[in-house]
Amino acid sequence: MKHLSNETTHLYAKLEYYNFSGSSKDRAAYSIIYNGIKKGKIDQDTTIIASSSGNLAIAIASICKILKLKFVPVIDPNINCDYETLLNLISYKVVKVTERDKTGGFLLTRISTVNQMCLNTANSFCADQYGDPNNYRGYYGLGNEIVSAFDKLDYIFIAVSSSGAITGISKSVKRQKPDVKIIGVDVEGSVIFGQPPMKRFISGIGASQVPPIMSNAIIDDVIITSQADIIKGCFELLNEQAIFAGASSGAVYIASKTYFSQHYTADKPTSLLILPDKGYAYLDTIYNKEWGIEMSNKFNKSQILEDVEL
Ligand SMILES: Cc1ncc(COP(=O)(O)O)c(C=O)c1O
Repeated sequence: MKHLSNETTHLYAKLEYYNFSGSSKDRAAYSIIYNGIKKGKIDQDTTIIASSSGNLAIAIASICKILKLKFVPVIDPNINCDYETLLNLISYKVVKVTERDKTGGFLLTRISTVNQMCLNTANSFCADQYGDPNNYRGYYGLGNEIVSAFDKLDYIFIAVSSSGAITGISKSVKRQKPDVKIIGVDVEGSVIFGQPPMKRFISGIGASQVPPIMSNAIIDDVIITSQADIIKGCFELLNEQAIFAGASSGAVYIASKTYFSQHYTADKPTSLLILPDKGYAYLDTIYNKEWGIEMSNKFNKSQILEDVEL
């Protein structure tokens, strides 16, 4: 846990980018693969298939590399260039869809491609982060780490996409310390918390479907951040705390500030931010000022990334 400077709260950050493959998705990937093996659904000849262009694909690919398992990520043209190069280096094979679906994006094409591949491949295993409860179970360990690190903890701010992190952390922490408040952080245009759908150009946070596993989460409050505020949050995290992190980290940083500007607390509370990944994958987007200007001009006019989960 890193102590951050802040006047309103005793603020801490859990730097999940120190995990083995560089993000908190290592926890989800490990849990999904481990349980697949334990239940006999994955053996040495299984082909593991997943729809992911982001951190989950990198995490599964890394684990499969160690275990000498075949992993095929299904990606689309919105993928970050460095991620594509890395996936090509460490995966068994990479399948890249190119046809847009009826919404104009690639998500539905990716999902139907994965389903077809799973049907047509003998001894295949579909790693489904949205539906597999082993996704959130992978975060119980993080919940335990948090509980043992703090004598007193009042708030945890967690960005939501597949909802694995918030579901697992909230279940595990609340079981041991029910008074800790869990604050979910989402982006405008994501439908997870009932907001109207809108094209999104920020990756790594939000979803265009409500993740089925989230029904197990225990969430006290939700903050919806604008896409412009997420960019601002990333720069503030960099300039105020010297932390170079991804979009969802900027989102939780700005969301915590917004939260405490709206909620009066008598004592200085202790808050924890979960920071899922580093900023390198966002150098051409969030951290590129020209891209930011271009996006604000295009804002609401579509032609923007959708569901690229970093
Ligand atoms: C960049 C990023 N943001 C947010 C999250 C949390 O997302 P989820 O709700 O999918 O667990 C993750 C998970 O690893 C992530 O990699």
